[in-house]
Amino acid sequence: MEIRLKNLSKIFIDRTKKETRAVDDFNVNLASGRLTGLLGPSGCGKSTMLFMIAGLHEPTFGRIFFGEDDVTRLSPDKRGIGLVFQNYALYPHMTVKQNIMFPLENMQISREDALDETQKIADLVGIGNLLERKPAQLSGGQQQRVAIARALVKKPRVLLLDEPLSNLDARLRLHMREEIKRIQRETGITTIFVTHDQEEAMSISDEIIIMNFGKEMQKGKPQDIYLYPDNLFVAKFLGNPPINIFEGEIKDNYVYFGDQKIFQKQAPNGNYYVGIRPEDFKVSNNKEGVHVPTATVEVIGRDTMIRFNANDTQVRALVESDSVRGKDEIILTVNDDKIHLFDIETELALRIVETLSEKEKQEAKELVLYFQNLEEQLSQRKQLEEEEEDIKRTKKKRKKKKGEK
Ligand SMILES: Nc1ncnc2c1ncn2[C@@H]1O[C@H](COP(=O)(O)OP(=O)(O)O)[C@@H](O)[C@H]1O
Ligand SMILES: [Mg+2]
Repeated sequence: MEIRLKNLSKIFIDRTKKETRAVDDFNVNLASGRLTGLLGPSGCGKSTMLFMIAGLHEPTFGRIFFGEDDVTRLSPDKRGIGLVFQNYALYPHMTVKQNIMFPLENMQISREDALDETQKIADLVGIGNLLERKPAQLSGGQQQRVAIARALVKKPRVLLLDEPLSNLDARLRLHMREEIKRIQRETGITTIFVTHDQEEAMSISDEIIIMNFGKEMQKGKPQDIYLYPDNLFVAKFLGNPPINIFEGEIKDNYVYFGDQKIFQKQAPNGNYYVGIRPEDFKVSNNKEGVHVPTATVEVIGRDTMIRFNANDTQVRALVESDSVRGKDEIILTVNDDKIHLFDIETELALRIVETLSEKEKQEAKELVLYFQNLEEQLSQRKQLEEEEEDIKRTKKKRKKKKGEK
């Protein structure tokens, strides 16, 4: 069942009357039967979005549709949702079986059927043999499976997962990722998976929505977003090590470093933010490209990291170690389609800017300033918090010293 969000917004107003646009005019359709990853930095509005879809937060504006049903004013228990949080609170005094069955208790369903359903779901999530245990007798991963089973037992129309793996250690997280993917495929239930972890979102999602300060930055298949970022934010947010961004000039279909022409790139003359992912550099056999001495390379097993400067910005290239071995100097090139160009003022990909009207360009420019402003406020707030932390810590230390005397 498709989920449609229309002009969905949530604005929080705090004691000082300051507004936070946690979700800001969202218009998206989430594909039926698919897993959509909601990805963005901490505080960008992911949980708020999920809570509105769940019915736990009332939207300030906008509407939410499940298929043809407008569920905007429907209470959570009438929406047909299953919810799993990072802190999956299981009832400690109940067995696994009782925990999973609990949501069925107030339904018109015989105990026999409920037990049947519980066993089926428990088997599906891989804890069918643990039904008589108490939560304290389970590992973190098993507890999370119980939480997922409990969310699924009522056969919800929509499964909502809010950073469900954040409390697990790294190895378990990888495994549970695959398990959630499998469970989602087997049930075919429309799922939203919230995470701030790009790798997690990239590996698990059929489609990703990237958010920043409550706004949609891009939506698409993971690989498409990675290969064709719509804007500078998305380009920088995805990729590890991150994409290189430097200011560069295009002249006569070449990227220039200073007055040296370096890489071929078909594009109109002008200044751009040039984006190149570290892994998209290749060692060239002819003369064209950027010449770098290999004296300071950093070998990371199969790959080698090479650093050089492009118009005063340090750039990192990741190439195969074999291609560098024994050479004093290498020449790096990049394929035309791996060179991303962004408009300086709107920070939008060139292919997008080219389609905009003047008015739309103006709006995009204003959005960049709006984000910059919020970014500044955020960093100021963080600094203040850190200073307060420092003061508290010093006070504590003094007290302790006094106590010792
Ligand atoms: N109940 C609330 N009251 C006021 N502000 C809130 C409340 N919940 C969230 N916010 C603010 O809304 C923004 C988005 O928060 P949230 O949705 O929790 O982000 P995320 O889940 O992406 O980390 C943050 O700036 C947060 O401080
Ligand atoms: Mg959150």
